[in-house]
Amino acid sequence: IQRDSKFAKITQEHVDHFKGILGSESAVIDGVSQDATDDIEPFNSDWMRKFRGHAKLVLKPSTTEEVSKILKYCNDNMLAVVPQGGNTGLVGGSVPVFDEIVINLSKMNQIRSFDEVSGILVADAGVILEVADNFLAEKGSIFPLDLGAKGSCQIGGNVATNAGGLRLLRYGSLHGNVLGIEAVLPDGTIVDDLSKLRKNNTGYDLKHLFIGGEGTIGIITGISIICPQRSPAVNVAYFGLESFEQAQKAFTEAKSHLSEILSAFEMMDGRTQKIIQKVAGTKLPLEGDYPFYCLIETSGSNADHDSEKLQNFLEHVMETEIVQDGVLAQDQTQIQELWACREGITECLGHWGGVYKYDLSIPISRMYDLVNDVRDRFTEAGLLGDDESFPVVDVVGYGHMGDSNLHLNVPVRRFDKKVEKMIEPYVYEWVANEKGSISAEHGLGVTKRPYVGYSKSETMIRLMKQIKDSFDPNGIMNPYKYL
Ligand code: FAD
Ligand code: MLT
Ligand code: ZN
Repeated sequence: IQRDSKFAKITQEHVDHFKGILGSESAVIDGVSQDATDDIEPFNSDWMRKFRGHAKLVLKPSTTEEVSKILKYCNDNMLAVVPQGGNTGLVGGSVPVFDEIVINLSKMNQIRSFDEVSGILVADAGVILEVADNFLAEKGSIFPLDLGAKGSCQIGGNVATNAGGLRLLRYGSLHGNVLGIEAVLPDGTIVDDLSKLRKNNTGYDLKHLFIGGEGTIGIITGISIICPQRSPAVNVAYFGLESFEQAQKAFTEAKSHLSEILSAFEMMDGRTQKIIQKVAGTKLPLEGDYPFYCLIETSGSNADHDSEKLQNFLEHVMETEIVQDGVLAQDQTQIQELWACREGITECLGHWGGVYKYDLSIPISRMYDLVNDVRDRFTEAGLLGDDESFPVVDVVGYGHMGDSNLHLNVPVRRFDKKVEKMIEPYVYEWVANEKGSISAEHGLGVTKRPYVGYSKSETMIRLMKQIKDSFDPNGIMNPYKYL
């Protein structure tokens, strides 16, 4: 990709203008007038350290009005921008490609209101997910999204990526839970749609364009979201299974035995569990080695009632040998230890140098076939092996099995074009043949930009471009990304 020459380069005059809007020292990280490259570095590189931008300016507004003034000025002066939340995105969407200005939402971190009767939370976009959830815990509620990056990702970033996470199976997607949005358009217009209504059929529901929009049409500054009751009784179990077939049977049985209390059904292959043991020293919950593992969580309102259901389920899957071995957490510490076997995978996979990550929706019966196919390709090509001379360390699969969402990951010792060419477009063609999606929950960002056509028709891409143009005619919002 080449820098688009229609965008202006940042000058001292621009910087002075922004300093006038934002006032406080810490709100402007300025690499134009002073050598602040060190301070700017974390805003320029993504979580995986795969993408690196060259922004010279980071702006941290504290209010919606400040965001509005910044964007209006950028739009009038053809300055390109990248909205940034916690910078935990996995598709290179949250960092600049060239010298776009980073607009970081971390100073917009206030909870605005919470209604204990309806469970509706209204908060600034920059509130950290875990902070929001801890606030809600005190009120007996829960944020309807949870994911491994909760300690740093922001609720605005979650909405902008339409993050799925670990409990989508139970609470549904943000398209259902987000009731309203406050956002700023590139021309500075404040879209005040912070509705608290569950039902509101009054024409096009425009908030949905911001949910999963990945910062390409405006900046989300506030959200209103419906939060369910927090379940007092939570149980977590972890199983070893002999095959992916058995994992599917376990899922069917979990749905029928646990029905309304089932709140997560996650799958990890045996390779991921060996990796977390080796890299992070995680103590694995079961003695034996199994090719597949599942983590099941139940959340309900009556501990006795839930335990009885869970016991029946466990007895059934053990007796019928659907499951080879299993463990049920006895307390909060054990619950966390079991979850660590699932949530710890992402970080460990980066251990050798890099990871090719694929986040795919695939019909459930075919989910793991892709992992096997990709592994066979690398083995046959002689690229996968244990010592330094092989670029590929392993090919692993894990993910939100309850949502048919596979995370296919290829940890490598170095990024290598030869390796990349063996997986892309192979994986995307494979997924398109199954009528799946090339991005189940992480979004498109810069990584998936060339491959949108595998999941969207020409007509749909044309309509998306028309929408983008009508919101952002100058194209300043998060350029070079998927549109
Ligand atoms: P960022 O990374 O800062 O930004 C992501 C995108 O949103 C960018 O395009 C950015 O421009 C845009 N954006 C950010 N804030 C705004 C805003 N206020 N207005 C407009 N646009 C904005 N994702 C899942 O779906 N499920 C998971 O289970 C999951 N687990 C993860 C586990 C780990 C360890 C990590 C590192 C990531 C995980 N992710 C997961 C990726 C996920 O996309 C992010 O964690 C999260 O949703 C991004 O939030 P963020 O605040 O970090 O956004
Ligand atoms: C997860 O489910 O762990 C996240 O989506 C992150 C990842 O894909 O590694
Ligand atoms: Zn995921």
